[in-house]
Amino acid sequence: MGSDTIPLLTPYKMGNFDLSHRIVLAPLTRQRSFNSIPQQHAILYYSQRASKGGLLIAEATGVSDTAQGYPNTPGIWTKEQVEAWKPIVDAVHEKGGVFFCQIWHVGRVSNYEFQPNGQPPISCTDKPVAPQVRANGIDVAKFAPPRRLATEEIPLIVNNFRVAARNAIEAGFDGVEIHGAHGYLIDQFLKDQVNDRTDKYGGSLENRCRFALEIVEAIVNEIGADKVGIRLSPYANYMESGDSNPDALGLYMVNSLNKFGILYCHVVEPRMVKVGEKVETPHNLLPMRNAFRGTFIVAEGYNREEGNKAISSGYADLVAYGRVFLANPDLPRRFELDAPLNRYNRDTFYIPDPVIGYTDYPFLQSDAQKES
Ligand SMILES: Cc1cc2nc3c(=O)[nH]c(=O)nc-3n(C[C@H](O)[C@H](O)[C@H](O)COP(=O)(O)O)c2cc1C
Repeated sequence: MGSDTIPLLTPYKMGNFDLSHRIVLAPLTRQRSFNSIPQQHAILYYSQRASKGGLLIAEATGVSDTAQGYPNTPGIWTKEQVEAWKPIVDAVHEKGGVFFCQIWHVGRVSNYEFQPNGQPPISCTDKPVAPQVRANGIDVAKFAPPRRLATEEIPLIVNNFRVAARNAIEAGFDGVEIHGAHGYLIDQFLKDQVNDRTDKYGGSLENRCRFALEIVEAIVNEIGADKVGIRLSPYANYMESGDSNPDALGLYMVNSLNKFGILYCHVVEPRMVKVGEKVETPHNLLPMRNAFRGTFIVAEGYNREEGNKAISSGYADLVAYGRVFLANPDLPRRFELDAPLNRYNRDTFYIPDPVIGYTDYPFLQSDAQKES
């Protein structure tokens, strides 16, 4: 490796995919998919962020009509949704990108208005999430008390994930990322702060991981392990989903995932980022990284320098970038040149506007001139 080699810009073989660099677009909910249907404007948004041999992970996409919990988030359970994804996926492929669909079920992080017939959201528990104060300090998101799933209903939800994965492949995606992070349904089962079940899906660590692993197994059997990734956040406690022993949870999960030979594991760092300062925790992902046999992706709070360090030290194979990729459609190019970055505007993350804060972040001026 030459002294001027940038670790993030080195190629990497992820299973059958030849990636030309290590900079991944993290899944980013943008709330611009009206009526749960991906829209035309997403074609430009994703293709702007696509690069030859670059991995993009699509925003969290609902697996069924009970999976939704936020306005204007996309789904992939109907024919219409599958058809609407196709031109978006095609546009990413035209630029040589590799595109995975993140599939989720929000579980109890929902409310009557998002549920069919105004029914209560479902979860592993009937404990509600307390109202959350959003980043702007004014909005309070309220969640309805969930209905606890009966043991015999759980295979139906597993099946929703399986069908959604098949639909993602039908839409042209290269694979799926199972959203097992951030306090949504799968994480609700995983974490002992939430899961208070007494059946085979609750209690012991093995039982709490059963739902996640049944989903993995069903999807692996449906589309092949070489197209399956999962996102986990054992150390996070979003939406009151903390765990008393995240080290054990993370290790049990990666060791179990090894049995299925899935393509990648994408893990959120146990970091807490406070306004303007980073607070490090005593935990890190090295034990999980060392135990997992597939591609290991890390995320949360990475900049160029830290990403390079993660790759060169062998701490990760790939680094996912969220907010800076949202604001810099040409992020791999900017990292290559060590060019300055556009600042992201939090106020436009979730507005329904099809352009503002979505496709209007500028490319590097020098490159824009070259293209015109
Ligand atoms: C606007 C926004 C939307 C997000 N949506 C999702 C999502 O749909 N799925 C998910 O797993 N994480 C989601 N996240 C978390 C990001 O994927 C990422 O982990 C987080 O932004 C930390 O990485 P960063 O410091 O590089 O931004 C979202 C974050 C932001 C800022």
